[in-house]
Amino acid sequence: MTASSAETKVTILVDNEAQEALIPEHGLSVWIEAPGEQLLVDTGQGPALARNASELGVPLSSVKRLVLSHGHYDHTGGVPEVLKCAPTARVYCHPGSVSARYSIRGELPKPIGMPAAARLALESLPAGMLHWTTRPVGLGDGVGITGPIPRLTDYEDTGGPFFVHPESRHADPIDDELALWVRTDDGLVVVVGCSHAGLINTLRHAQRVAECPRIHAVLGGFHLLEASEARIERTVEALAEMQPDLVAPCHCTGSRAVDALKAALAQRVQPGLAGATFTFGAPVGPWVEGFGETPAGVHA
Ligand SMILES: [Fe+2]
Ligand SMILES: [Fe+2]
Repeated sequence: MTASSAETKVTILVDNEAQEALIPEHGLSVWIEAPGEQLLVDTGQGPALARNASELGVPLSSVKRLVLSHGHYDHTGGVPEVLKCAPTARVYCHPGSVSARYSIRGELPKPIGMPAAARLALESLPAGMLHWTTRPVGLGDGVGITGPIPRLTDYEDTGGPFFVHPESRHADPIDDELALWVRTDDGLVVVVGCSHAGLINTLRHAQRVAECPRIHAVLGGFHLLEASEARIERTVEALAEMQPDLVAPCHCTGSRAVDALKAALAQRVQPGLAGATFTFGAPVGPWVEGFGETPAGVHA
């Protein structure tokens, strides 16, 4: 599966739902191929990734960059497999992504942080290959990472009972969440992991960081599974105002939100399941200095 010289090809490798012959798994992994870029955003929990990638003709050995949207297990469990296949891949993630974190429903805390094997694989990377990302980073011409996403809307939150400690009940702000953007002639293509910062906060931050007001497409988990009707309504309204050409809800978006998106955006909403492929224009550079300068010590 190769992108032509004039396009960006996005393939969903792991999702809660999958096309026939692929393994569905609660998690997300998205493959992005563009001129000069072979990039994986997230890895799912692990088991589905290698099989689905092979079935879809995506050699994990060709991963040049691995971007982790945040440290939850369903996005990072496949890190050891990816780094085994692609030992020279550069990895980008926020330092907070390796922290312990829990989801607590009822009395039983469930650890949902990055698995120990994934943390170890990151720690074992040679110097210079692991890029802790605490600010917007340009990866190449027309491709970048948002860095931490400001929480500016009054109707979005992390979307679940997330905590940093199994007993203290201190809320987890999931401030390691980041998104990937590709700037094309048609506008931004934004790939989100779980949107724990809020989908609208994420898109607006990507617009600022990439210095591109137009959202062409957004793909990934919108985490509206447990959202109130009011939040879903306001999210869909704000998204519709951005007039995206393609919205591919995946993973943790939830069927109520998908239905609301379809009602507002009709055929511009496409199913974001494993095996789905989307083609966009090639990334358009250059990386613009300014709001998101590349931090010292972090090299694209
Ligand atoms: Fe997730
Ligand atoms: Fe998550």
